[in-house]
Amino acid sequence: MKKVLAISGSTRAKSINQSFIEAIRNIAQTQFSVSIYRGLSDIPHFNPDLDNENPPAQVKEFRRQLQEADGILICTPEYAMGVPGTLKNAIDWSVSTCDFSHKPVALITASLSGEKAHQSLLGTLKIIESNITDGTQLLIPFAKTKIDKDCKITDAETLTQITKLIEAFSRNMENQ
Ligand SMILES: Cc1cc2nc3c(=O)[nH]c(=O)nc-3n(C[C@H](O)[C@H](O)[C@H](O)COP(=O)(O)O)c2cc1C
Repeated sequence: MKKVLAISGSTRAKSINQSFIEAIRNIAQTQFSVSIYRGLSDIPHFNPDLDNENPPAQVKEFRRQLQEADGILICTPEYAMGVPGTLKNAIDWSVSTCDFSHKPVALITASLSGEKAHQSLLGTLKIIESNITDGTQLLIPFAKTKIDKDCKITDAETLTQITKLIEAFSRNMENQ
């Protein structure tokens, strides 16, 4: 079975983005396994001077998990019309080692609106050569109203969109 590493752009305890990751883990359990990356808050601020042959231990571990995954799922909110700093910081550490290069990626921006962060992240993911397609990216506005506290997607259209995204993501991983 293919292995997906999931990254939530929100580190908040009751994050709806983490709930969407749980929902996808449940829905996709016969297609791929999902492990959740928990170290986002501990990654040091990106500094090219530290991006050498002996980077910080947290960065080594993050890169190892990226490299071992068959695909990467990112679920994130928008903060102040942009990508959450912790998430962008982590991605910046992956540039020199090309960890996203040709790797199947699914991006969900689950936020109040989220459009700017979604477009910005799509640009970043494309420039670092990740394998992200129209079918593996989804913007979920008013996201809080579409999932419950038990990680069940309560909005029928969102559930359909996520089911299609899971299928496209699986296909991209199979074809890799
Ligand atoms: C500091 C801050 C800034 C925010 N800015 C935006 C924004 O620009 N656009 C937006 O859609 N939502 C914005 N939000 C609302 C978040 O989208 C919303 O709180 C979302 O549920 C956070 O995701 P989470 O539940 O996974 O933590 C902001 C929230 C915070 C705390």
